[in-house]
Amino acid sequence: MKTAGRGNWSIAVHGGAGSMERATTDPAQDRTARAGLSAALEAAIAILQTGGHALDAVEAAVRVLEDDTQFNAGRGSVFTAEGRIECDAAIMEGNNRMAGAVAGVRSTRNPIVLARAVMEQSPHVFLAGSGADGFARAFGIEAASPDWFETPERRRQLEELLADPEAPFDLGMKYGTVGAVARDTSGHVAAATSTGGLTGKKWGRVGDSPIIGAGTYADDRAGAISCTGAGEYFIRLSVAHEIAARTRLGVEDMQAATNALIDELSILGGKGGVIFAPAIGTAGWAFNTPGMYRGRADSSGLRQVAIYADE
Ligand code: GLY
Repeated sequence: MKTAGRGNWSIAVHGGAGSMERATTDPAQDRTARAGLSAALEAAIAILQTGGHALDAVEAAVRVLEDDTQFNAGRGSVFTAEGRIECDAAIMEGNNRMAGAVAGVRSTRNPIVLARAVMEQSPHVFLAGSGADGFARAFGIEAASPDWFETPERRRQLEELLADPEAPFDLGMKYGTVGAVARDTSGHVAAATSTGGLTGKKWGRVGDSPIIGAGTYADDRAGAISCTGAGEYFIRLSVAHEIAARTRLGVEDMQAATNALIDELSILGGKGGVIFAPAIGTAGWAFNTPGMYRGRADSSGLRQVAIYADE
């Protein structure tokens, strides 16, 4: 196993990729999005700089983003076509490659907490629907009523979509998902991803976020990956696992592997972005949308929060 990452830590977070451009973004929205990303980074930094685990850091960062109504995960998730909120989440650690995931969760406040409980307290990896919420109640994980998740802006977005039944699901090109990847001072990596999915989703649609190897993956021999974007493309390309595999097998470093997968995504017509925390080196990202809500920090003092492609 590579150990050159030991002794230093690195973290990256994202809050979704999409059509955000400097010229058209409301300055207040720019400010509050950056503040939300900074808060998520700070929650993770507090853990990592005191020698805490990457798994705790990514869970803490994603919890902050799930509770922030600006981002499409947990509270503030988008609505399904039926006017419900159904959340997906996954978490994975790179030491033993343990993973937990949930899909279609409707009454659990923090889906990422539930995903971690599936990983640590069940013999399973992936639970869905009412069974997943039932597992949460059985294991004492905090519940929330449907109206706790709802916001007027997400309701407006659904109404806009339903008013135009021909509109594609990617109307507005805002692929909201949140995620975090980290490497801790012991050299272990972890990834966490959480989302409400797509506005107007139907038929129990599940995206890439909770699918291990598609939207979320971690392997200490390579690094940790969390994706955001049009989930169907990320599933078809097994984006997160392929980035890890190419890195582990020495095909490319993790930045080059991520760039290559974003290029493949573009060729197929997919849109989105990826954040990664490599086993060696600092965290980074790539995306093919005009913007991606993102941030990173490391033990050398790096602190960066960004939205647009030119920063
Ligand atoms: N990337 C999130 C989704 O497609 O649901």
